[in-house]
Formats: sequence, C-alpha cells, structure tokens
Amino acid sequence: MLHPRAWLLTLTLTVLTFPAFPAAAASPASARPPSLDPRLSPDRRAELALRAMTRDEKLSLVFGYFGTVMPEKHYAPPPQARPGSAGFIPGIERLGLPPQWETDAGLGVATQRASRDAFRERTALPSGLSTAATWNATLAREGGAMIASEARASGFNVLLGPGLDLVREPRGGRSFEYAGEDPLLAGEIAAAQIRGIQSQHVIAVAKHYALNDQETGRNVFSADISQAAARESDLLAFELAIEQGRPGAVMCSYNRLNGVHACESEWLLERVLKGDWGFAGYVMSDWGAVHSTVRAALAGLDQESGYVFDSQPYFGAPLRAALSSGRLPAARLDEMARRILRSMFAVGVVDHPDDAASAAIDFASDRRVAQEDEEEGIVLLKDAGGVLPLSRTAKELLIIGGHADRGVLSGGGSSTVFPVGGNAVPQPGNAGWPGPPVYLPSAPLGSIMGEAPRINIRYLDGSDTAAAARAAARADRVVIFATQWAAESLDVHMTLDGDQDKLIAAVAAANPHTVVVLETNGPVLMPWLGKVAAVLEAWYPGSGGGAAIARVLFGEVDPSGRLPVTFPASLEQLPHPVLPGAGVPDGQPFDIHYTAGAAVGYKWFQQHGLQPLFPFGYGLTYTRFRYGDLRTRVTAGQLTVSLTVTNIGSRRGAAVPEVYVGPVSQLATVSWEAPRRLGGWSKVTLPPGGSATVAIRVDPRLLAVFDANHHRWQRAAGAYHVWAGDSSASLELASEVRLAAWSHDALWPSHAGAGK
Ligand code: BGC
Repeated sequence: MLHPRAWLLTLTLTVLTFPAFPAAAASPASARPPSLDPRLSPDRRAELALRAMTRDEKLSLVFGYFGTVMPEKHYAPPPQARPGSAGFIPGIERLGLPPQWETDAGLGVATQRASRDAFRERTALPSGLSTAATWNATLAREGGAMIASEARASGFNVLLGPGLDLVREPRGGRSFEYAGEDPLLAGEIAAAQIRGIQSQHVIAVAKHYALNDQETGRNVFSADISQAAARESDLLAFELAIEQGRPGAVMCSYNRLNGVHACESEWLLERVLKGDWGFAGYVMSDWGAVHSTVRAALAGLDQESGYVFDSQPYFGAPLRAALSSGRLPAARLDEMARRILRSMFAVGVVDHPDDAASAAIDFASDRRVAQEDEEEGIVLLKDAGGVLPLSRTAKELLIIGGHADRGVLSGGGSSTVFPVGGNAVPQPGNAGWPGPPVYLPSAPLGSIMGEAPRINIRYLDGSDTAAAARAAARADRVVIFATQWAAESLDVHMTLDGDQDKLIAAVAAANPHTVVVLETNGPVLMPWLGKVAAVLEAWYPGSGGGAAIARVLFGEVDPSGRLPVTFPASLEQLPHPVLPGAGVPDGQPFDIHYTAGAAVGYKWFQQHGLQPLFPFGYGLTYTRFRYGDLRTRVTAGQLTVSLTVTNIGSRRGAAVPEVYVGPVSQLATVSWEAPRRLGGWSKVTLPPGGSATVAIRVDPRLLAVFDANHHRWQRAAGAYHVWAGDSSASLELASEVRLAAWSHDALWPSHAGAGK
C-alpha cells in the first residue's frame, strides 16, 4: 500500500499550476460588508458574502493548499499557512473573511511529519477508542473543546476530526482514531466531540466519509456493500454524528464505494449526505482523494484539500476552465462557496477571527482533561483473585516493559500529537512516515511510585525474558506493560508487537499475581490470558495516561470503561480471516466484499454464534451492580426503556447499563442484520448501596431497517425483545414490547446546518 505522502516523493512534477493567491484588495474603511452583521442567520450572511464575491474569490475558497513545505516537490505553501500544518485556504480580506487554517486531528493538534519546522508540542487525548470506551458523551465533549482550544491558540480554525469510520476490521491501522464498531455509540461520541470542538469556534470535520475501514489499499479498494446495509451501519454513525453534532464539514475518503471514488460519489455526497440528511456544511476531500474536476464537483465535493497531494490541482485552473466552457454551471461554484461560507459564519470562524497564533495554553489543565478521559476509558478485562486494586502494603512490586519508565505509546500518521516535553523514547530522525512511534512523557512508573511510596518498586525493560521471569518470581506483584503500535496507512496483526506474548507468558508462569496493562490500537489476541491475574486495556493513553493508569491500578479510580469493540478469540472468527488486499501489489485496485453487511462487530459474532475473547460493551469494575425493574413505555410510537441500577458492592463505582433491542419473530428477523442492536445506554456513578433509575430512549431507526427500494426507514409491526445488562453478551434483564408498524422517509426531520 502506498500512502499519498509516499507517492509525492516518487512523482516528478516540475511545474505546478496553482491558482494565483488572491490579492488582498483593500476595502474602503466606511463600507463594512453587510455579511459581517452577526444578527443575521448564517444562511443570509453566506448569501450576502457570496453576492459580493468575484469569481476568482469563489475559486480561491474551494481550493486548499497543503500547509507544509515539500522541497522534493518544489512546493511551498502560501506564506500565510501555519508552518508544518495540514492545510490552508486563503481568506478574503476585503470581505472580512479570514483564511481557513487547518490542522489534524481528532486527538489533538498535530504537526505534519514532513515538517521541517519545529514540531508543535501539544496535549494529546487518549485514543478515540478510549474516549468511546468511556461511554460518556460529556467527557467526549470536554475533550473536543480542549483540543480545539489548543488549535485556536495555535492559530487554527479548522480541526480535521473527529474520525468515526466503524471499526469493521480489527486490524485497521487507524482504529485508534475512531469511535468503535457500533453506529449508535460512535455517532453519539463523535457528535459530542464535534459540539466540543465547535464550542471554540473551530470547524469540526467528520471523517472519513465513508467506509474507509482499513488502511491496506485505501487509495484503491472498493468497499462493496448494499445501500441498505451501509445506511444501517457506517452511514448511520455519520448520520447520528451529523444530526446531533452539526459539524461544519465532512471529509470524503480515499477509497471507492461500490466502484466509485468516495469524493466523486453522487450517492454518498449529494443524495445521502446533503439530500437525506440535509447537511448544510461543506464536503472537503481527504489529502490526495480527488481524481476529477467536473465529476467530483457535480457529485458534491465542495473543496479540494491539501494540494499538492492530488496529481493535479483539480479545483484550481481546471475548475476555472470547466466554468468558462460551461461544463460546470456557475451555480455549482456558488453552491460550493456558499456552503463553506455558511459553516464559517455558523461556527463563528468569521466573528472570532484568529488573532494569536501562539496564545498561552494551560497545559496542566489540558492534561487533566486528557487524564480524566483515560481514567474512564480504561477497561478492566480480567481481575481474578482480587489482585486489583493493588495493595499499597505489598513489599515488592515489579514493573516490566512498554517503556513504562518513560511514557505511554501513541498511534502514528497524520493524527500524531507531538507532546509537551518531546518524544519520551526518541528514535533516530523525528520525521518520517507514518512513524517513528511517539511516546508521551507521562510515565506510568513515576505515577505508580507516587501512588505507593512505601512499596519497593523495581523496573525492568523486558528485553531479557529470562531475567524478567526470575525477578517476577521474587516479587509480590508484577505489572507488565505491553504495546502494539499502529499507524495511518499501515494495518496491523491482531497481536502485540515483537515477542511480548512470550514475555508475558514467561513472567506469568513465574508469578501468578501478574497484571497486564495493554497499550494497543485495538483488539489483540491474548494467548497468555488464562495465566495472568488481571488485564487492563489502556488503549493509547494520552498525555495524562501514566497517572490515569496508576490511579486505576491502585483503586483511586474505579474502572468504568466498556469495550467499544469486540475482542475476537481468533482470526477465523472475522468476516475476512485474511485481511482483504493482503498480497495485492501496491496501487492495484481490488474489491472488498462486505459480506457482513450491517452486521459489524458483535452483530456478526451473534449472528454466527461465535464466542469472542471479550464481547462489545464488556468491562469489569471493582464493585458490583445489580440491574432490575426493567420497564418499557411506548409514547407516540417511541420506545423508552427504564431500569434500576444498584451498587451491591462495597466501593463507589460507575455502572453502564446497556439496552439492546431485536425482533422476536423470525419473520421480522429476515431483514435485520443480526439478533440484536445496541439501543441506548446510560452511565451512572453510585456509592455502595446506592441505587438509581435510568430512562433510555431508543431512536426509532434502531428498531427499523432501511428499505432502499422505497427509500425509507421501516419498522415491522410485532413483538420486539428489549434486553438490559452489562455487555452485549450478558443481558440479565429481558422483556418484550409490541410495536406498531412505523416508517419514515429517509429525510430525517431534525437535521439542520452546521453550528446552529
Ligand atoms: C488523512 C486525513 C488527514 C489528512 C491531512 C490524510 O492522509 O487521511 O485524516 O486529515 O491526511 O493530514
């Protein structure tokens, strides 16, 4: 597989034909453009601005430059671009329209790997999967607001995230950027992130639309899936995120969908996104995802991004020529510009112009936001014999591996945040694609020592398995950190890196009180699971990760994360045991038949009666909860489920009651992709003995199927199961409810434009 950044090095373009950077025409001081009146609606303001614009100005708005110097391409971005940034679109000064300064991404403010400029040191959230594992939209919103405030303080007003492609493929190298395998969970978490980002007057970009669910062959593969299955799975996640979050922009993806490039798919962009969902923002391309001018523009692409990644400046001179020759109507250029302007007004980019490219950032406070996110995202997968929480009175604690003495791992590619204090495990050459791995200087070892000052704590790096096992035999308790690095453009095996499985097995054989802390992209196989006492999934833990892990280990924080992805027990359980495209020569197109359809993750497992290693929605706590009193209420055709949660353990903790729904009769099951779907959840923190009743509204689309022939959501009349419990595979409460037939056309009523 070849990343576009790699093609760049191999292409030998000598002459680049940029559209001229528009000259900033002076505006007479007296004539304040009417579009700057904040009392007017974003639509009206966009219209007024558009009317005042020349064709050149409109053209400048739809063409984005890469923001980083590339000497090998003889490319330098416009001088106003932020150094080392992802993108830049010139402003129109005479109309009071600021430039669009774009930065990656959903986990924090990144600097391009290719940058020769100083890397910005910023705060990294834990991985997207960790945030999804919190099942806590409030935290997701706070995280979004935090990274957007750093973006703004760094001179950016467009943040290229969040990512929410469903984790269909557990080996996908960007799983760490996304929000899990379930459309409801991913959609709600991403919506909250979007709201947080845009609260800082920074445009959020929901990406990568759509079905870019693996990295292998991402520029050339075609995701082949029926319209109905797409609508009930990956597209439903985007639908919910867009409806509830109202992002200013959506980024179309590299891959093809049913043979058509995503950025030229009229069905994806015009029909579904802008038509059915009423999306009023703009569609920008991924960097290098444009393949045509007129076709892409007519399909609904509004802005080409990151030129020089595309092989031509499709929305530069060729777009101008297409307009002059009439191959593209002028009205379409107006529409493209209007959408961009509308989002700039709606999100507040115009009313809050960037004034400080390096405003002060309160890193200590931002790190606390990241830490809190991680504390709730860590999932306790196993806790046998009560080894956790660790006792502060143990004599000797041995910590092994994972560079736990230095920091915590993060994922690679465009989303990598360079941390305050630099890479804790520096590698030769900081640039390069998509690595080298960056460790955030939040060392678990130091935080563990802080938690337990009276324990004798030793650290071994794990490079000598025999020595680690010998030391383990003498320790009271062992905590072993294990890692899996993944990155944009690289899929991974569902395993830990290197020989870490052997190391864990040897250490666990020497000491049964071994706790494993995983820092992984996503699911991994655990051949040693039966031998260790406890396992924590800490994902990529973010800038406050070391402290968060230590606090969970010692019980300062009760683990309350729940898996947003299924952990398979073997590759054979996957819809594609062999990764699609494996062995296909770079650049050669191939098709991925999404035979699972909408049955992604746990739905696939349940449909096929497969026992995963750990199911979706699963996670232990240090206390225990009892669920009871399951009730259903149907008001005006709308199902609400309520239940009571009681903390029956002896510690404070957070329960995540999950509600699942599915049809009872075989007849109705015919068109459901799987026996059950997540219908909703709640998260509630309770003291010992505490009890709460939660009410969970089930979105009608989750009880319906998408009927592509009639272009509508349709629910069959009949009996439906309602289950509640603490994972997709452990549902202690069950009930049935009769629902009437219901249908709704695909145009959902509550959809509206960005920001407002
Ligand atoms: C990635 C996008 C990213 C863009 C800009 C692309 O390679 O797929 O997610 O926003 O680069 O860096």
